[in-house]
Amino acid sequence: VEHLLGIKYLNKNDIDLIFKTADGFKEVINRPIKKVPSLRDITIANLFFENSTRTKLSFELAEKRLSADVINFSASQSSVKKGETLIDTVNNILSMKVDIVVMRHGNVGAGVFLSKHVNAKIINAGDGTHEHPTQALLDSYSIREKLGSVKGKKVVIVGDILHSRVALSNIFALQLQGAEVKVCGPTTLIPKYISSLGVTVETNLKKALEWCDVANVLRVQHERMDIKYFPSTREYTQLFGINKEILDNLDKKIVIMHPGPINRGVEITSDVADSNQSIILNQVENGVAIRMAVIYLLAQQIKR
Ligand code: CP
Repeated sequence: VEHLLGIKYLNKNDIDLIFKTADGFKEVINRPIKKVPSLRDITIANLFFENSTRTKLSFELAEKRLSADVINFSASQSSVKKGETLIDTVNNILSMKVDIVVMRHGNVGAGVFLSKHVNAKIINAGDGTHEHPTQALLDSYSIREKLGSVKGKKVVIVGDILHSRVALSNIFALQLQGAEVKVCGPTTLIPKYISSLGVTVETNLKKALEWCDVANVLRVQHERMDIKYFPSTREYTQLFGINKEILDNLDKKIVIMHPGPINRGVEITSDVADSNQSIILNQVENGVAIRMAVIYLLAQQIKR
């Protein structure tokens, strides 16, 4: 593949190659000297039109660990505020000899659009409610690390599926690797097309957790929410919040994941998020190796 625009453009071999490459980089970043000289001749622009902590810092660190030159752009502090278009913004940045663009944007398909109009490798760091491919890759990689493989595992994605780019990318990635996927949440937060993706729906949280090996708990995205989808936070927490009591009543110990940022006490309690069942910080750690792998593999296609 020429760009990383979404998991839907990848196949199982692509994911295997990314994971194998990430295994090597994970070893590197656990050494005292965490840097490799691989991309000394590559320049990367991180363009964030939406807020981010984990993805932005993790991409920047991955790029620096690969010895690439890095420039960071935050739309809120830029000439986008004066009305400059996306293509003008990116073409001006590219004229400074940039090879790879990492972009987070609020519009669905922003990465695909950009890939057709500019001459650079594009990595989608989240496009609206559509896809967040590197998040899904690091999530699957973390499951593989914790449980030995993704194949045959039962994964439930809990919460606000409707507004989640993490959910869609995870569904594609997990299915490519042979996992079974269920979603659980209020029917108003589950899109109608979900069953056409081969995903089953469960609206009873206890049943969903009894079924699964892994629960990936999503943030309630208040900023994208229309009130008609979401009656009250208290009601949501009562029906779909993950707490220690519900986990202790299961007859097995499931793995708990969350892409962050967490609304503590809403979709998950602190004692669960911080427990030894949770691999939330392992996900963040693995994000660096996965992003190093994605950038490294795309950079191999650039003529130097
Ligand atoms: N998981 C994730 O995308 O977090 P950020 O929004 O902080 O990047």
